[in-house]
Amino acid sequence: MRYNSIEEILKNNQAWVAQKLVQDPTYFKKLATGQKPPYLYIGCSDSRLALTRFTGTEPGELFVHRNIANQVSLTDINFLAILEYAVMHLEVKDIIVAGHYGCGGIKAALEGRTIGLVDNWVNPIREIYLQKQDEIDALPTQEERWDRLAELNVQMQVKNIYQTSVMRQALQQQKALEVHGWVVDIRTGLIKNLQVSTKQWQLPSLSVAAL
Ligand code: CO
Repeated sequence: MRYNSIEEILKNNQAWVAQKLVQDPTYFKKLATGQKPPYLYIGCSDSRLALTRFTGTEPGELFVHRNIANQVSLTDINFLAILEYAVMHLEVKDIIVAGHYGCGGIKAALEGRTIGLVDNWVNPIREIYLQKQDEIDALPTQEERWDRLAELNVQMQVKNIYQTSVMRQALQQQKALEVHGWVVDIRTGLIKNLQVSTKQWQLPSLSVAAL
């Protein structure tokens, strides 16, 4: 571990601020004037999934919502408020759902391990597994089964975004808005764009298209 104490984290903050100010004395002054992030990032809470580091984005560029296994839950008022604010007020141009390989939430869903409230939270992923059980079970290794379910989970969460009233309203208003599905491969550090085709969900009436 890089840090041994909270004090060290705070000291590192001071060092980082000093370094930023050397590069640009007005950096924080500009940051304090407000935000206009072009991207909404929905990711897993996993401590390794620090997308700003993985993409080299700066503060002010990503509006963020994170939860276990990057769920887009239609009953999660926290998520819905963030989505509405991002789309209607910040007017983000792109929404990114980023899952990752080696996700504990995916493993919990696939293996049915009991670890507490997380079991309830990841139940929608278990539903995805049951829908695609033949395809997933046919994969030769457990790691590949986790990986595939992580990808299918991202696709499902992209689809769920199109099921929200916020997104339907945005489409009606013909807002230029794209939704992307990514998987971060922590083993290599590389991000894989799943190229999720979203056309099928951009209909004025609710689509029942499969994954
Ligand atoms: Co995860």
